[in-house]
Amino acid sequence: MKTNRITECSNWVLARFPLSKLWNEHMAHYYAPKNFNFWYFFGSLALLVLVNQFVTGILLTMNYKPDAKLAFDSVEYIMRDVNWGWLVRYMHSTGASAFFIVVYLHMFRGLIYGSYKQPRELIWIFGMLLFLALMAEAFMGYLLPWGQMSYWGAQVIISLFSAIPFIGDDLSLWIRGDYVVSDATLNRFFAFHVIAVPLVLVMLVFLHIVALHEVGSNNPDGIEIKKTKDANGIPLDGIPFHPYYTVKDLVGVGVFLIFFATIIFYLPEVGGFFLESDNFIPADPLRTPEHIAPLWYFTPFYAILRAIPDKFAGVIAMFGSIAVLFILPWLDRSPIKSVRYRGGIFKKALFVLVVSFIALGYLGTQPVTPTGTIFSRIFTLGYFGFFLLMPIYSRWEKAKPLPTRLTEQPALEDHLPALKEVFDEMTVLKAVTNPDDMKSFYGSTMLRRRPNPKGILRVMGRVTKKIKASLD
Ligand code: HEM
Repeated sequence: MKTNRITECSNWVLARFPLSKLWNEHMAHYYAPKNFNFWYFFGSLALLVLVNQFVTGILLTMNYKPDAKLAFDSVEYIMRDVNWGWLVRYMHSTGASAFFIVVYLHMFRGLIYGSYKQPRELIWIFGMLLFLALMAEAFMGYLLPWGQMSYWGAQVIISLFSAIPFIGDDLSLWIRGDYVVSDATLNRFFAFHVIAVPLVLVMLVFLHIVALHEVGSNNPDGIEIKKTKDANGIPLDGIPFHPYYTVKDLVGVGVFLIFFATIIFYLPEVGGFFLESDNFIPADPLRTPEHIAPLWYFTPFYAILRAIPDKFAGVIAMFGSIAVLFILPWLDRSPIKSVRYRGGIFKKALFVLVVSFIALGYLGTQPVTPTGTIFSRIFTLGYFGFFLLMPIYSRWEKAKPLPTRLTEQPALEDHLPALKEVFDEMTVLKAVTNPDDMKSFYGSTMLRRRPNPKGILRVMGRVTKKIKASLD
């Protein structure tokens, strides 16, 4: 009887809404390449973090006060007096950094497998718009706790706009809504942070996925699975997204949550990287902190800004470093998508990009020094070099021959036995008799693992050789 009722209800819905059609088109009959590796976890993880930010953000808004006189105290109130408020706030602040970690890795996956190339240019463009919206969301959210760093960070970034000739001063005044960052700024940033930008984010995620499902996913081999189909028109190298990847993504979610929870419960500030210590001091418009730096996810771009001696040119370079990513699909002239089959020049250029980006990220957290500025300039050249020289070096590349079907590569778990061997090589078991903390252990001999310098050197030598070989 009961099942009949349920069937009746579902039939009633299905006659009015294409639920099963949508499910089949985008999940059960959406054929994804069967060789996705761990790099493909980060798209679904980005979705998970987005949901986390929405849920915890709504809960925070229930007790937060967007008022310059009350904002700081309301956050303290959430942390100390609201039931589970500390957890919600740490989930939100850790979620912000996690979002950028996940999205940077997601973008890097796109870079190594050429997922930005034809026919996926629009997926990439929507992704870049998402990245911009995400940066705006994080920047405006950071003002809300109304701490010293919130206040002075916003002051510095908004005043950058005043470097634009003719309209600059009026523009920064218009953004702030006052001559300095004030209650008016806080109110408008609150409005954007809690409603306007989240709406844009949701809309862009929708467009991103629609564009992806129109052309289908790329994969680590960078060849199109739609080119080889069976008699029913199903790609021979495709597997239904559900249940195969819904289940596989759950593994990624599990691993991610282990890291996420560890940070929330044991290390929520991450030594000032996720929550800066200056931000636990209420905003004081009369006292500038000694060293103003944005949070880690903005520091590569901040370092580019500071590397250029002229303020306006610095602003152009900073925005240019993001803008150049938009035109990436048209800068790359290689017919090969995946790094697996691309030539050595691309691999070397990618190495330069990664080193430059990380180094700039570090330099952006440090106070300005003459040596730091020289290094920032070198790494800024490295960053732009990757993109702006791409139309040239991507033509020269000697690519490896492409396979016609997806290849089988060892999965992450296949490396685990080898990892154990490496661990054994890098450590030695030493006998420790009756160690202090083990007095009650019947005076027996204990075996303890100790680092083995020779083994560590051997492993490092092998890793260096491997990296070098992969670049040739
Ligand atoms: C809120 C942020 C984002 C969310 C929620 C998101 C979500 C997703 C999801 C669920 C997928 C499919 C699964 C996968 O391939 O991993 C995907 C694919 C993709 N995303 Fe994103 N994404 C975001 C930001 C970005 C950004 C910033 C870029 C790059 C500028 C980007 C570029 C791509 C590309 C190129 C693909 C296709 C990858 C392929 O087929 O190999 N995404 N995204």
